[in-house]
Amino acid sequence: MSIKKTTPTCITIFGGSGDLTKRKLIPALYNLWLDKWINEKFLVICTGRNEMSNTDFIKTLKEGVDQFSRRGKADTKEWEKFSSYIQYKVADFTKEPFYNELKTLIQKFETDASGTVVNKIYYMAVPPQFFEPIARLLAKKEFNTDKENARLVIEKPFGTNLESAKELNNCLLSVFDECQLYRIDHYLGKETVQNLLAFRFANALFEPVWNRNFINHIQITVAEEIGVEDRGNYYEGSGALRDMIQNHLLQLVCLIAMEPPVSFEADEIRNRKVDVLHAIRKISKDTVHDFSVRGQYGPGEIDGKKVPGYRGEKNVAPDSGTETFAALKLYIDNWRWNGVPIYLRSGKRLHDTFSSITIEFKPVPHQPFPEEASETWQPNLMVMNLQPDMGIRLRFQAKKPGLQMQLNPVDMLFDYSDTYASTGTPEGYETLLLDVMEGDATLFMRADQVEAAWKIITPVLENWLSTDPASFPNYAAGTWGPQAADTLLTKDGNNWIIMPFKKNNHA
Ligand code: BG6
Repeated sequence: MSIKKTTPTCITIFGGSGDLTKRKLIPALYNLWLDKWINEKFLVICTGRNEMSNTDFIKTLKEGVDQFSRRGKADTKEWEKFSSYIQYKVADFTKEPFYNELKTLIQKFETDASGTVVNKIYYMAVPPQFFEPIARLLAKKEFNTDKENARLVIEKPFGTNLESAKELNNCLLSVFDECQLYRIDHYLGKETVQNLLAFRFANALFEPVWNRNFINHIQITVAEEIGVEDRGNYYEGSGALRDMIQNHLLQLVCLIAMEPPVSFEADEIRNRKVDVLHAIRKISKDTVHDFSVRGQYGPGEIDGKKVPGYRGEKNVAPDSGTETFAALKLYIDNWRWNGVPIYLRSGKRLHDTFSSITIEFKPVPHQPFPEEASETWQPNLMVMNLQPDMGIRLRFQAKKPGLQMQLNPVDMLFDYSDTYASTGTPEGYETLLLDVMEGDATLFMRADQVEAAWKIITPVLENWLSTDPASFPNYAAGTWGPQAADTLLTKDGNNWIIMPFKKNNHA
């Protein structure tokens, strides 16, 4: 496929000296540039409060690329060329004067681009309290007027509850048009997450069984071995439900459960996704316990090393009630999914790090085999491994070789690292940044999607905030979370399924 370069682009990163810029944004832009997606007319203005020379700033960015880029250490010559596009501006972006300076820089860039269309991207990689002031100042100084080419990117968290998300939407929509807003959920940029659309809608094979007639239940696990690291301040006000379930996991539910779109237009895909969120059965206040489980890790062991409990982490209250694990059971009340439970769980300091979606199919209507033949029978499973190993495993029954009829579960595997060994998979941020430059909002959250997702978790959130989690900590670091998360499934006759994604891994 030939590469279509983006139009000339000027990106302003608010929070340019922050962690996200160093770890994700600059490595992503550098890789896009190496892969020749980026126009030669390109400027990245990084704003930050830290006093630093441009040279020192570029040096810290290079360290970030060396450490975090999927390609590893930056090539000195290529980095020199790429970094010449970056300018660091020490600025107080809550005050007007900076915006005058910014205007001059961007206007000069536009003049140098000699009359061609220029994308102007304003990326808010800042804590959420700055979203509103920046958006308003951008509007006041008329950075919002080019509806086609001026775009505002908003990082998470998008609100802390339904009300604050609505307020933020109202504010942003009073100064920018929806088509100019790019609310990022970095999960949607992941290769395997995008592949869910290809898998479901480019194959005729799976659609006939993708419904309540054939599927017993669906489970989604996003497990992390890492703890809260140095993000205690943020995480204390967030917790697993808001940090992971409200956004990443509910977006995965949308992709797994949505109806086939008519086209690949951004709004068509987003309409089909929001339909799913609207169809999710509301959890009533008095049934929160039946549909949700929260947990917090205590001290334990990860990879043989002792690690502290959450309450012992930096910037975490010694009696913190914040959950580091959340599990939910959802139902989608529509024709396709009626009665099929969808289990979600996500947690920190769990036994392993992986994200996967598992579909358990219903048993065959009738087993003609003698009882001893089917002793090892297991239901058909499809496991979509999103990360770190990427691939899809289909588990089905086969006859075990031998003189007797004996059934045995076996696996068919699609492993990205075998099939696409030579190509190098782009990071989520590469995909998403390129999409912003191309004006493609398909993988970004629309205002109504964000609000619909908040509505789903609101009863659980309110219940958890108003009741004391007396049993915290209720799982040891390095385990699979609280016991109650297992019961959430076993009371329906189901279990969490953990299958390492290894080749020839027959049961
Ligand atoms: C972020 C959360 O959105 O996603 C983090 O704030 C989490 O707590 C991270 O660790 C997981 O993303 P990834 O891409 O590392 O799986």
